[in-house]
Amino acid sequence: MGEFLKINQKIKPFNKKISIEGDKSLSIRWALLASQATGKSRAYKLLESEDVLSTLNCLKKLGVKVKFKNNYCEIIGKGLNGYDYKNNLTLNAGNSGTLSRLILGLLIHSNKKIKIIGDKSLSKRDFSRVIEPLENFGAKFYSSQKNKLPLSIIGSKMTKPINYIENKGSAQCKSSVMLAALNTSGTTLIKAKKSRNHTELLFQYLKIPITIKKTKKFDYIKIKGKKKIHSFNYTIPADISSSAFFIVLAALSDNSKLLIKNVNINPSRNGVLKILKKMGIKILIKNKKNYKGEEISDIFVESSKKIKAINCPPDLNSSMIDEFLIIFLVAARAKGVSYFRELSELNQKESPRLKWASKILNMMGVKTELTSHSIKIYGIPNLKLTKTIKIKKYLKDHRIFMMSTIAALTFGGQWVIHDSDSIKTSFPSFLKIIEKLSKK
Ligand code: S3P
Repeated sequence: MGEFLKINQKIKPFNKKISIEGDKSLSIRWALLASQATGKSRAYKLLESEDVLSTLNCLKKLGVKVKFKNNYCEIIGKGLNGYDYKNNLTLNAGNSGTLSRLILGLLIHSNKKIKIIGDKSLSKRDFSRVIEPLENFGAKFYSSQKNKLPLSIIGSKMTKPINYIENKGSAQCKSSVMLAALNTSGTTLIKAKKSRNHTELLFQYLKIPITIKKTKKFDYIKIKGKKKIHSFNYTIPADISSSAFFIVLAALSDNSKLLIKNVNINPSRNGVLKILKKMGIKILIKNKKNYKGEEISDIFVESSKKIKAINCPPDLNSSMIDEFLIIFLVAARAKGVSYFRELSELNQKESPRLKWASKILNMMGVKTELTSHSIKIYGIPNLKLTKTIKIKKYLKDHRIFMMSTIAALTFGGQWVIHDSDSIKTSFPSFLKIIEKLSKK
């Protein structure tokens, strides 16, 4: 991952239609659930990024057959807890918090010790958040690095359902527990602060016994375990987290228009659209449809000149947790001071993103006030950069790379941005799409 990107000029006006790669959360969840189903499942438009390929590789190590054919990926499921648990098995989750935390939920029945490892960034992240509930099901964990990777799990034959309160708004924690409940006799009860609900929608689509009672802040989820899953096909919609970089590129560029096709705008993920609209970005949602419980639509966006500062309501945080970096760039262009709070989770990502975003904005000449859980951004509506900015040593965080690239293309200046390979984690075609938009 040594590659770097140099950008010396802003992008020229464009008017184009693009397709964005498949949703990462759904791609990983499809693969994990297909591996627990009986029979052949297919995914069309599966995101072929490193996080998803790591998922498929872990499943292969657990004896699951995975094949790529013409335009789909096929998994032959092994049924509930059907994995082959070999001695000394090590699963490499690469950079993926979602894969590592979700798969642990499926491994609470393993009869052998299984070790999970990851890259430098993942090895700095906290796993106590899933270890605690999974231990309550009956699994045992071993780690020399106190709740960090490398981490070994050994499951139990006698897992017991749990009562669990998820109060971080973490879909990874909620989903890990949901997957653990899948093959555990009895009823698991979860009280979860609002977060993305793809796992719930997939459970409902697969007719896994689940009930959900929604209140303003929490969802109360009940899952009855041991119901067999039938194989299923899925066409993965475009990822809103990847799309957000291009929505902001078009909004902050001069005289530009962009249409993005078939984006997953699930209400538990679409906070970015709500906030950008409030900030004055011209966004239109077209051709809305429902697909297996998910909301899909085309998104049209155009250059937006008058950008307003925002006092961002924290109850939207979890619905746009991966989009804050790019929203902060919009705040840098806004008239007035924007305020984002209750965001300590943002420092728990692939890199400490709240800290990094603030540093990058400061390098651009934008004043910020940072705490461990909040940021104020003093917008400069006419900000045009001419200086040189170097972005490196940020734990190769894909979204820091993409935020910096969009900043370079919209604010100008001379940028050197390290670790361009990091985009392979979530959005391998990111730079190709920029090339397409740059061509006449
Ligand atoms: C994800 C949940 C979020 C998000 C991550 C993907 C998921 O993490 O940041 O990129 O697919 O469940 P948390 O659940 O830790 O907030």
